[in-house]
Amino acid sequence: MQDRLTDRGLWRTRALVGGEWIGADGGTTIAVEDPATGDTIGEVPDCGAAETERAIAAAEQALPAWRARPAPERCAILRRWNDLILAATEDLARILTAEQGKPLAEAQAEIEYAASFVAWFADEGQRSHGQEVPAPTADRRIMVRKEPVGVCAAITPWNFPAAMITRKLAPALAAGCTIVLKPAQQTPFTALALGELAIRAGVPAGVLGIVTGDAAAVGGAMTASPVVRLLSFTGSTGVGAKLMEQSAPTIKKLALELGGNAPLLVFDDADLDNAVEAAVAAKFRNAGQSCVAVNRILVQAGIHDAFVDRLAARVRALRVGPGVEDGVEIGPLIDDKARAKVADMVADAQDKGATLVAQAPAAGRFTAPMLLTGMTPEMRAAQEEIFGPVAAIYRFETEADGLALANATPYGLAAYYCTTDLHRAWRVGEALEAGMVGLNTGAISLAMAPFGGIKQSGLGREGGAEGLEEYLETKALHWTGLG
Ligand code: SIN
Repeated sequence: MQDRLTDRGLWRTRALVGGEWIGADGGTTIAVEDPATGDTIGEVPDCGAAETERAIAAAEQALPAWRARPAPERCAILRRWNDLILAATEDLARILTAEQGKPLAEAQAEIEYAASFVAWFADEGQRSHGQEVPAPTADRRIMVRKEPVGVCAAITPWNFPAAMITRKLAPALAAGCTIVLKPAQQTPFTALALGELAIRAGVPAGVLGIVTGDAAAVGGAMTASPVVRLLSFTGSTGVGAKLMEQSAPTIKKLALELGGNAPLLVFDDADLDNAVEAAVAAKFRNAGQSCVAVNRILVQAGIHDAFVDRLAARVRALRVGPGVEDGVEIGPLIDDKARAKVADMVADAQDKGATLVAQAPAAGRFTAPMLLTGMTPEMRAAQEEIFGPVAAIYRFETEADGLALANATPYGLAAYYCTTDLHRAWRVGEALEAGMVGLNTGAISLAMAPFGGIKQSGLGREGGAEGLEEYLETKALHWTGLG
């Protein structure tokens, strides 16, 4: 892999603890596979609780100096980090595709998306204003200050190995926190390369730690530590609930971006071309492996057949293959388990009456993009995240029916709808139970907008002004007796 990089120094294969690149205490490693071939592309340390505790201790030691630095200084370092990430886009994208599988063009777009969080928080970090509150007596002054939360921990997923990291690290560092990151076991190399660039940008030793290894051991040490004041996690609702439970004894702040079951409502009055493009964007990005991917496409009866015909043509034409090949739009799913889960969900839907209308050519390690119609709420794919390239269509009659179907889920991360009727745009936008709602678009992920869910989709927001707020505490200073 290293030979394929212009900057070979980005190929880091050790964990980052207290500013040093280290192996696991026991010398054990974890092999990382290319999901397109199954070949091992490299190994990283299989760290556990001891290495994690040392990274947390280093973060605690580095905290006073980092939080004392003026915000513009911290943010200048972030701006340098952003510049270095953008300058290394091609190398980072090659690493990302090798370990995650997504097409190179999508990997490059993800690196730019990742950098956009660093750039956003480099600016936003300078705006953590406090305020003065009018006091009830003449001799009192009340000031409200924003202070860094302290030592933080982050656990990130494999589906966006760069962007989910910068979305947590950049606001933490901008706010004056120090942070220890555990990247996904499947995709540690992108994280380590980003760590190398953070060091080159001037992030001091200990301010950022990166511990590769077993999720239970590393996550367990993070949640158990009284030093860690905030845990940010992106992943499944099940694991989020477990981390919440583990964090309860030390009353940590939690930022949880969890599972979704996003609906896309296509109303009779929708612009057909626009609705099909929104469906393709929201369904097939990253082969459907995203929490904000459309899980259920709900189509009103009057436009149903025309929409299905158009989407079927787009699905059949999708090019599937290794992410490094030119023109590939859909890469492999992350592993065998993911492929088997998608296949089971499709079989379950077909057993319960769904029809497979269209499929793109794919074989071997690659899951074919598919279009299913006749979907109903009893099917597994209606209740669980598909996390694969399967567009599942449900038919509905009235606006009220469509909305009831859309909201019939314990999740509330993203929702999408297509209409050209202004009245309906307001009504439906307000009625959809989700933290993020896209009208006539399947793309809602932007650094300047708050990202996060309601119901069982999580707590807190990433990105936007809200993303910085997560890493800040509010302190009220009451002054009296000064004459
Ligand atoms: C996710 O799937 O967790 C996030 C995707 C995004 O930021 O768009």
